[in-house]
Amino acid sequence: MKKIILLVLLVINLKTFAQKFESIAATPPMGWNSWNTFQTNISEDLVKGIADSLVSSGMKDAGYTYIVLDDGWMAMQRDSVSGDLVADPKKFPHGIKALADYIHSKGLKFGLYNCAGTKTCAGYPGTRGYEYQDARFYASLDIDYLKFDWCYTDSLNAQEAYGTMSKALFAARRPIVFSLCEWGSHQPWLWAAKDGELWRTTGDIGVCYQGDTVISGGWKPNCVMKCVDLNEPLRKYAGPGHWNDPDMLEVGNGMSAAEDRTHFSLWCMMAAPLIAGNDIRKMTPETRMILTNKDVISVDQDALGVQGWRYVTKDSLETWFKPLNNDDWAVCFVNRSRQPQKINFDWKNENVNDTLSSRQLNASSTTYKITDVWMKKSLSTTSKPLSATVAPHDVLMLRLNK
Ligand code: GLA
Repeated sequence: MKKIILLVLLVINLKTFAQKFESIAATPPMGWNSWNTFQTNISEDLVKGIADSLVSSGMKDAGYTYIVLDDGWMAMQRDSVSGDLVADPKKFPHGIKALADYIHSKGLKFGLYNCAGTKTCAGYPGTRGYEYQDARFYASLDIDYLKFDWCYTDSLNAQEAYGTMSKALFAARRPIVFSLCEWGSHQPWLWAAKDGELWRTTGDIGVCYQGDTVISGGWKPNCVMKCVDLNEPLRKYAGPGHWNDPDMLEVGNGMSAAEDRTHFSLWCMMAAPLIAGNDIRKMTPETRMILTNKDVISVDQDALGVQGWRYVTKDSLETWFKPLNNDDWAVCFVNRSRQPQKINFDWKNENVNDTLSSRQLNASSTTYKITDVWMKKSLSTTSKPLSATVAPHDVLMLRLNK
């Protein structure tokens, strides 16, 4: 009896201190966000068109669920009487609730953006001082996802600011995925698992593979491989319900097909959120095939929820591993150079031992079948060394199973 009473007290206690809804992101969130292609040039028609294409292109079937409006959805002022945020009436003539209803009617989920500071990065009203009011407002609009940025925060304490918004969302009693976007400046991986479902680990991504690219105004985005290098060492902080976020996808926005494949493969190897950022109403068949490859996506969405890691680098050729459910493994060979690279990988000579997940790939005692997940083709098994060539800036991505 005593034990039962103690257990009940423990459950009540846990509930009192709970701050987020559990199980709303058991696997990394997947969806689409307006920023990478449209910045603040968004509208009701655009978003409805994106929702329609998400369904007709097979993206929804492949798992992309959330449609998130980034910066620029608001009017420049809050409502002068209620203090509520107001949607830009020109861009969204029927209001945000009607749009949320439309998106939900397609079997999709809907998200919005705001900022912990006094203004959003593009200068619209921020949430500082309005956390509980805004959370109630979002719940009244039936939103499912909130991306929360970090501009105009002056000397605000990041842990407190994100903690307050997280509590406000929880108090509004609607399960809303909380995406922390403070660019990794205050190491959110150390403290944000209790607050939200994903946190940015990098500054903003750009449409470039690696190296320096300066775009207008002297602003320097992170190229894809820079995001990878910043995110990879943080694997131990990620897991079901709390993911490292190396930023949204630039697939289909101007890199080569090989670079897009690499970008997508590595996001999947790192169990990163898959938030497409291209104009999916007009994407090419090649882009669609990359974004909807279910075998690659299943590596990202694997139930074990362990972020993969870079096992070895040799002559610009990286070898990555990710342990998967049922003792399967994903393996990715990444060629960062401008020349083709040869792989000669003798599985039996390798010691792939992941102390984080307590998984071991021992090809001497176990023979795994090998599938090339991009080509959708069976290769031989791990009983023989693998030899192949990887094209410049491309990958060879495999799934091993017993
Ligand atoms: C920041 C974020 C971006 C985007 C813009 C919007 O730069 O990191 O992802 O949301 O703000 O202004």
